Amino acid sequence: MTPDEFAPETLTAQALGWVDEQTRAITPPIHVSSTYLRDPDNEYRSGRVYQRDNNPTFDQAEAVLNTLEGGHETLLFASGMAAATSVFQALQPGDHVLVPRVMYWGLRNWLTNFATSWGLEVELIDMTDAATVQAALRPGTTKLVWVETPANPLWSVTDIAETARLAHAAGALLAVDSTAATPVHTQPLALGADLVMHSATKYLNGHSDLTAGTVTTRSDNEHWQRVRLVRAQIGGTLGSFESWLLLRGMRTLFLRVRAASASALHIAQHFEQHPLVSEVLYPGLASSQGHDLARQQMREGFGGMLSIRVAGDEAAAVAVAANTRLWKRATSLGGVESLIEHRASIEGPGTPVPTDLLRLSVGIENADDLIRDLERALTIPNS
Ligand SMILES: Cc1ncc(COP(=O)(O)O)c(C=O)c1O
Repeated sequence: MTPDEFAPETLTAQALGWVDEQTRAITPPIHVSSTYLRDPDNEYRSGRVYQRDNNPTFDQAEAVLNTLEGGHETLLFASGMAAATSVFQALQPGDHVLVPRVMYWGLRNWLTNFATSWGLEVELIDMTDAATVQAALRPGTTKLVWVETPANPLWSVTDIAETARLAHAAGALLAVDSTAATPVHTQPLALGADLVMHSATKYLNGHSDLTAGTVTTRSDNEHWQRVRLVRAQIGGTLGSFESWLLLRGMRTLFLRVRAASASALHIAQHFEQHPLVSEVLYPGLASSQGHDLARQQMREGFGGMLSIRVAGDEAAAVAVAANTRLWKRATSLGGVESLIEHRASIEGPGTPVPTDLLRLSVGIENADDLIRDLERALTIPNS
C-alpha cells in the first residue's frame, strides 16, 4: 500500500497492509530473539545480527511512521529521550547547536547539563523569532537547529519552513520535535526539516503503557549514519513487546488525535473568557500568538495539548489540579485519558513556566464531561 493510492489513515489502520506470508496472519508476530544465525560461510545475509542494532518487530512500526512522515528512513528508540539525545550525540565536540528556550524540560536539562560536557556548544534562544535565529546562526559552526512546535508547555509555534531555510543557508541541519503535532497535523520533512523526532510514548502509542521514541530522516547522510551507530552502540533500542504495542497503538492514531484535537479546541474556547482563568494557551485560539502560523503549518486542527493559567497564585493552580476527578493528576501526554499537571512543580527551579500554569493533555473522553469536571475544580478553591 502506498501514499499514492491511499489516504494516511487507511495506510495507518492497516499498517501498510502487511500480511505474514507464512502464516497469513494479519497482525505481525513479536520477535524476541536477541541474536541471529550466521551463514555457514560466515556472512550475515539476512542483514540481522543482534537485537541491539536490529529487530524484525521494529520493521512495521518504522515503515508506517516513515510513510506518514514521508521520510527516507525511520528508527525506533527506547524512549523519546533516547531518540532526541542520539541526534545530538551524533554531532562532534565543538559543534554549535541552537535550541529553543521553551521546550520539553527533560531534553533542555540534558542539553545544558550533559551535552555541554561532551563538548557541544548549546545556545538557548527564542526559536519563534526568525530574526533571533538568523542572528544566532554561525555559518560553518552551527551544525544543528532544534525546533519543538507546538512547544511544551506554552504551545508556542515555530515556523518550520522559515527556520529550515535559515538553518540550511548556514550549513546546519534542522530537527523538529513533532510530538505534540503528530503526523496527523504536521509533516515537518515536507516543510524542509531534515529530521523529525517523536516521543512515541505519547500520541503515536496513545495508551500510556510504554516509553518509545522515533527519529525519521529526509535523506541518508553522514550524520544519519552516526545516529544509527549511536542507537546500536549505546543500546537505546526499543524492546520487542513495546515495538509490537506501538504498532497496535499507531493503527488508531488518526481517530484518537482528531478526537483529542476537536475536544481541546472546544475546551480552550470554553475557558478563554472564564473569570477564574487568566489565560488559555492553545494555538487553535484566534487570540493566540502563533495562530496564523499554526493555520498554515498544521492541518486538520491544532493538537490535543493546551495550558491554562489559573487566576490567583501557585497554590490556587495546585488546588485546581487536586480537585479534578476525571482529569488525572499525572505527567506525560497523548494518552486516551486526560491528564492535568502543575508543570512548574515537575520542571523545578529555573523553569520558564509560570507557577499558575496547568498543562492539560486532552484524551478521547466526552469533552463536556471534561469541561464540567474542570469547571467544578476551578470553583472549589475559590468558594
Ligand atoms: C515534546 C516531548 N519531547 C520529548 C519527550 C521525551 O520523551 P520520553 O519521555 O518518551 O523519553 C517528551 C516527554 O514528555 C515530550 O513531551
